[in-house]
Amino acid sequence: MADYKDIIASCKDQKGGIIEAFHALQQEFNYIPREALTEAARVFGISEAQAYGVATFYSYLSVEKRGKYIIRMCESAPCHVAGADELLKAIEKELSIKVGETTSDGKFTLELTECVGQCQATPVITINSEPLFNVTAEVLPQVLSAYK
Ligand code: FES
Repeated sequence: MADYKDIIASCKDQKGGIIEAFHALQQEFNYIPREALTEAARVFGISEAQAYGVATFYSYLSVEKRGKYIIRMCESAPCHVAGADELLKAIEKELSIKVGETTSDGKFTLELTECVGQCQATPVITINSEPLFNVTAEVLPQVLSAYK
């Protein structure tokens, strides 16, 4: 895993560097760690409050700790009809977390998403943006075991 200081330093001279840095940090860690916010503020010569303001302005950036794997359950109508609610309950039970939470080992975060354009194989979940098709409560443990 790359060091957050190296990531920030590599964006120092770019136009809009702090946004680029936050993007890269999010890509690496799935969120922007607190110490990285502090470092970004120092490197880009702004206050920590300003850095926090930038990081929280964009909905695709997160300053909350998130897991290594982000599971997103599609909640749009076709997946809903195909049993998304039951699957969501099964995921919550399997991982002992609710939507928006991260497992205590830092492995999984559970979120919701709108349609990801794969309605031919509902219900659909994504894990780190990779879509998985026709996921049912029965096959869920097997699906997740590949990431444990
Ligand atoms: S509704 Fe779930 S992928 Fe389209």
